[in-house]
Amino acid sequence: MTKFSARIEEVSISGIREVFEAAGEDAINLGLGQPDFPTPDHVREAAIDAIEAGKCDGYTSNKGTESLREALHEKYERDYDLAIDPGDFVATAGGSEALHIAMEAHVDPGEEVIFPDPGFVSYDALTHIAGGTPKPVPLRDDLTMDPTAVEEAITEDTAAFVVNSPANPTGAVQSPDDMREFARIADEHDVLCISDEVYEHIVFEGEHRSPLEFDERGNVVVVGACSKSYSMTGWRLGWITGPTDRVERMLRAHQYGQACATAASQYAAEAALSGPQDAVDEMVAAFEERRDVLLDGLEDMGLQCPTPKGAFYAMPSVPEGWTDAVIDRGVVVVPGAAFGDHGAGSARISYAVNVETLKEALEVMDEATAAVR
Ligand SMILES: Cc1ncc(COP(=O)(O)O)c(C=O)c1O
Repeated sequence: MTKFSARIEEVSISGIREVFEAAGEDAINLGLGQPDFPTPDHVREAAIDAIEAGKCDGYTSNKGTESLREALHEKYERDYDLAIDPGDFVATAGGSEALHIAMEAHVDPGEEVIFPDPGFVSYDALTHIAGGTPKPVPLRDDLTMDPTAVEEAITEDTAAFVVNSPANPTGAVQSPDDMREFARIADEHDVLCISDEVYEHIVFEGEHRSPLEFDERGNVVVVGACSKSYSMTGWRLGWITGPTDRVERMLRAHQYGQACATAASQYAAEAALSGPQDAVDEMVAAFEERRDVLLDGLEDMGLQCPTPKGAFYAMPSVPEGWTDAVIDRGVVVVPGAAFGDHGAGSARISYAVNVETLKEALEVMDEATAAVR
């Protein structure tokens, strides 16, 4: 008798955490995947008011409060011109749980899940946890995922493919044409497209569109979250939406794993989604300024980096030994190999720090670059 499931033995704790542990306490951390801004005041206050009014003491409906799902309905109408029934949302514990229940509801043991390489670490891990087989696909030179590469990777065992735009760890933004193609591929091959859109609002160039807008046969589900757009990573509030039959299956995984998302966070999310959006615009403007500072610095060092068009990450190609040399000098960056085999030879730099700190970090990177060349 084995002590642990084979599925869980396939998964290890993220390589990103190991990097943090290796860095000293005073290190400048460019490894974090969360905005460095406070959650907007009106969002915090909505949660406090809900708690004080006694609205957070019991379970909510499994799918989430009616008023949050109404706010989500309005958000998709406003942002995508999509009329989604409020009954077709499940509020989840962040985008993470949304990804988890999407996999649990759609992937049978041995089935394949296609996702970008380098890509967000959860895609590989959650595929294993669902008993599936990961099928990472390499990216184009601009670090977007080529729909043709996805189509070629589809076999009769494919259950799903994951699209992530804007992307972690690359900052790449897929074009509207790509998104249309992903929807076509899902429909034509009858496989599920899981579109991870947790960075949907953090776009500097190009346009974020969702494959859901182009879906004709109900083969797209969308993962969203308040985490990045409203600087609410600690609130653990995301959602999933898609066709009613898929939502109903994902709800089964959610109901038994989670019961419902945290009530106070649901009230906070409702305020974030339906209140003023200025905080989002301010954050995006700050990220864009930092991106430009970072790109200039990397160029001065002679490091090649496709221009990230969204999120708050850049992924330059780096010389052998660079990441260790940077970390040893007190700046945390994540080795690209933590995001998949094709991430080797690059590093992920998160610019969720102020410009002054970023400039300090760039000086350190410059020294490290000179040392390893
Ligand atoms: C691409 C991507 N998807 C999903 C998530 C999960 O987000 P959440 O904090 O809402 O669980 C993250 C977090 O880093 C992410 O980068």
